[in-house]
Amino acid sequence: MIAFRCFRNDDPPRLADTWRCADLGPAAVQPMTSALLEACVFSKPYFDREGLLVAVDGTRVVGFAHAGFGPNAARSALDTSVGTTMLVVVVPHEEHERIAAGLVSRCEDYLRSRGARTLLGGGGPALGGFYRGLYGGSDVPGILDTAPAMQAVFERAGYEVADRIAVLRRALGRFRPPVNRLQVAIQRATRLSVVDEPPRRSWWEAAVTSGIALRRYVLANLAGETLGTATFWDMQPLASCLGVTAAGLLDVDIEGPRRRQGLASYLVARAMHDLAQEGVAVVETHVAASNAAASSLFEKLGYEAVTHGTMFARPVRAEPA
Ligand SMILES: CC(C)(COP(=O)(O)OP(=O)(O)OC[C@H]1O[C@@H](n2cnc3c(N)ncnc32)[C@H](O)[C@@H]1OP(=O)(O)O)[C@@H](O)C(=O)NCCC(=O)NCCS
Repeated sequence: MIAFRCFRNDDPPRLADTWRCADLGPAAVQPMTSALLEACVFSKPYFDREGLLVAVDGTRVVGFAHAGFGPNAARSALDTSVGTTMLVVVVPHEEHERIAAGLVSRCEDYLRSRGARTLLGGGGPALGGFYRGLYGGSDVPGILDTAPAMQAVFERAGYEVADRIAVLRRALGRFRPPVNRLQVAIQRATRLSVVDEPPRRSWWEAAVTSGIALRRYVLANLAGETLGTATFWDMQPLASCLGVTAAGLLDVDIEGPRRRQGLASYLVARAMHDLAQEGVAVVETHVAASNAAASSLFEKLGYEAVTHGTMFARPVRAEPA
């Protein structure tokens, strides 16, 4: 008899065990431990035990699913109007589909009870903020194609594809930043600084990067005005599991009026060169198919897709007249 309940304080070892037994594909940290879940999930200041749903068969935990929210526009608090079910983790079980469906529907109940009108499936940089370093890579890229069983859970629940996220990698062996007239002109007109453990720019950034080592490359003009930033982290503990010295590019952002002037190409290439000199072998980042500018930028810098993830959305039901 399967029963559902929300998270309890004595669950972590059983949830780690569930993660170890479930088929999450190669982009999930293994072996999972309670300590890793504590560091990347339960310790987040906005963790809500009622959003972490647990399925039990008798006394055995057989699955869990985690629902949460992203930040508001000012990144100063959660925006509970859009909610997502980030992961659905179920052990091999004869009632696998029923367990997964029950978890998703209880996650939806939780999200609606907090005010969500839009329901998504899959985590991402601006959604949930949990499992970074445990699932995906440089960030959580929705539900990965390497976990087709989890994608099928959302499809059976009536979700549709909202966006596709490419997981991009660029090996840094012998990487040299491009040298051309534009890049030389940018080099003369700017200053690039490297800030380890930069002050966090918002409550949300502080919350989702607690406990991880950030490095920010800041590009400024000669008057000291910031033109853009690129922020990396060491992708631990996932990078250790992959067996590479990796850096995850979390975000690159050029000030609006300064775009289309070659600045991102210059900034990211210089950062990649710097990281290569420190022994980083590969840089990974994610880009949504809907972000044409970033897709094109990374393609020009030699990044290639190694897999894709899907962000799902539940179609809004028409209200009866
Ligand atoms: C994506 C972003 C960083 C690009 O910065 P940028 O300084 O304008 O990029 P560059 O001028 O170096 O352009 C490099 C290439 O990217 C592509 N590109 C940049 N902006 C583009 C746009 N609006 N549409 C299509 N391609 C674009 C082009 O291929 C361009 O090469 P080209 O100018 O020779 O055609 C910038 O648009 C931005 O800050 N966007 C908001 C944040 C974001 O989406 N970050 C990426 C994900 S974290």
